[in-house]
Amino acid sequence: MKSDRTKVVLVGAGGRMGREISEVLLEDQRLCLGAAIESSRSPLSGRPVPGYPEIVFESDLASALSRCEVGIDFSQPEGLRSTVGSFVESRVPLVIGTTGLTPEDREFVREMGAHIPILWSPNMSLGVNLLALLAGQAARSLEGFDCEILEIHHRHKKDAPSGTALFLGEAVAQARDQALSKTGVFVRHGLTGEREPNAIGVMALRGGDVPGDHTVFFLGPGERLELTHRAESREVFARGAVRAAAFLLGRTPGFYTMADVLLSGESPGA
Ligand SMILES: NC(=O)c1ccc[n+]([C@@H]2O[C@H](COP(=O)([O-])OP(=O)(O)OC[C@H]3O[C@@H](n4cnc5c(N)ncnc54)[C@H](OP(=O)(O)O)[C@@H]3O)[C@@H](O)[C@H]2O)c1
Repeated sequence: MKSDRTKVVLVGAGGRMGREISEVLLEDQRLCLGAAIESSRSPLSGRPVPGYPEIVFESDLASALSRCEVGIDFSQPEGLRSTVGSFVESRVPLVIGTTGLTPEDREFVREMGAHIPILWSPNMSLGVNLLALLAGQAARSLEGFDCEILEIHHRHKKDAPSGTALFLGEAVAQARDQALSKTGVFVRHGLTGEREPNAIGVMALRGGDVPGDHTVFFLGPGERLELTHRAESREVFARGAVRAAAFLLGRTPGFYTMADVLLSGESPGA
């Protein structure tokens, strides 16, 4: 293991994604795990991080930030503003993968880009980010078609619909010069009446251990286009998050997305 690698403070390190990211960092050429942050109530506190006998789970983010150069957060939305505030105070760039953010939270994160390089993406995979571009293109080309989005996630997921489904819905709405907040339909039950022509249905299924499936349907008279992305494992999100953290190093303050990482053309292991 090289000692000159850049240290990452990982927030939510004991969660499903946190564990996956710690594993990816074990083998990364540029970045390594510097600190593993868990919530103060976590039973993991003081225990060593799997694969890192020298690093224990802790909840003192301010102290961890003084030892690290970049951060990755995959936690829960409740503590996110406080986490972002600590990164801003320490002037440490931050990648956020946490979903379930309110529109106000998202605006807050965007505004914090005035102080530090900050990247939020509800889905760190290359395929999903391309899917959003394709869905926008299809929405522009298939005038008059109805658009519906369906996602499936594991039984432990706490927010619905997924941040990725909302992201895809926004891509379609934007391509039609609309706002998902106005045209999105998130529940259908009972006597719903006929479908509104501009509606974008966004529906969620939960069960098993599915890391994340998303299909964008375009339904027209006599034909149907289905654009599907299936994540086979959480590793794809972990690799994307680590790549995003490397991308933020040395950047000027600003709000970035995975599209910026993809368009930068920097190779994953550069
Ligand atoms: N962007 C993407 O590509 C992507 C991909 C997959 C998942 N996600 C999102 O990433 C988030 C995490 O997913 P997950 O499946 O890993 O969830 P998880 O297993 O519940 O892990 C979240 C971890 O964060 C900890 N945590 C909560 N609040 C915290 C705080 N304020 N400070 C430090 N740690 C805190 C939790 O500890 P406690 O259990 O003690 O509360 C838990 O260990 C979710 O929002 C999920 O939707 C995003």
